[in-house]
Amino acid sequence: MNSQRNTIIWDLPTRLFHWLLVLVVALQFLTGLIGGDWLTLHAYLGYATLTLIIFRVLWGFLGGYWSLFSTFVPTPKVLLNYARTFSRSNPRTPNNSEQDSNNTPLVGHNPLGAISVLAMLLLLTLQIISGVMSNDDISFAGPFTSKVSNDTVEFMTWYHSCVGFYSLIFLISLHIFAILFYKFVMAQNLTFTMVHGYKKIEASVEASIDTKEKRLIALALFCLSALIVYLLLSLT
Ligand code: HEM
Ligand code: HEM
Repeated sequence: MNSQRNTIIWDLPTRLFHWLLVLVVALQFLTGLIGGDWLTLHAYLGYATLTLIIFRVLWGFLGGYWSLFSTFVPTPKVLLNYARTFSRSNPRTPNNSEQDSNNTPLVGHNPLGAISVLAMLLLLTLQIISGVMSNDDISFAGPFTSKVSNDTVEFMTWYHSCVGFYSLIFLISLHIFAILFYKFVMAQNLTFTMVHGYKKIEASVEASIDTKEKRLIALALFCLSALIVYLLLSLT
């Protein structure tokens, strides 16, 4: 018999990370597209984004069970098995009975979702690296533009405005499309889980630990991430 219970999947630090990231990235697009004086704020938002990304990398080693890289970064074999299972499965099968080849319920990020999460974090990092070496040819220059050659600044500005920008739009659209697909085709509301953290699943499935102590560790890691960004910027 299947006994189910509400289990915490996304701990508070992971959820806060996600929704803060959505906020700062949305504002980055807005301020970047308006340009002009808004680029100063744009740069500060970029440093906030970098702080969040460094935090998420650290949390990938110390965070709640389902936020750990070791639980969601798939091996090529897991990825292939998932693609096969997915193509055979009934799209309306609820998540808690969706199983991988070892009969382990897929609860956190699914393997394809995990790849897209990593790609988003990587592209955001490249956007920040290119941003600090970009200028707008008028009044704003990223803090590292004076440390590199003019050709590098030109290349980074081109990458930032033409390649990174459109690649991010593509990946983020895909991300939102996947969430909508899960909602309307697979009948699973992943967004609620990213809001309150809980999912109704088999009682035997491991829960993330989201205690006060863990949250304090997250806060300390967040401060450490901000310090790392501060030190990086003081290299200019
Ligand atoms: C700027 C836009 C966005 C970015 C950059 C973004 C980025 C991310 C990242 C990095 C993760 C992985 C979280 C982690 O493991 O720490 C994630 C997961 C997730 N995001 Fe977003 N996100 C965006 C917009 C949205 C929106 C608008 C929604 C919902 C309406 C959403 C819903 C979710 C959900 C439900 C997950 C968990 C997916 C799963 O269950 O595997 N995201 N997102
Ligand atoms: C995730 C982080 C970032 C995102 C999503 C982002 C996004 C954008 C967007 C959408 C534009 C407008 C491109 C266009 O008009 O075609 C832009 C322009 C710009 N961004 Fe960023 N940006 C980020 C980080 C940064 C950072 C950290 C800096 C500098 C410290 C920076 C410096 C600039 C500059 C100088 C421009 C103007 C480039 C030009 O005039 O061609 N960006 N950014």
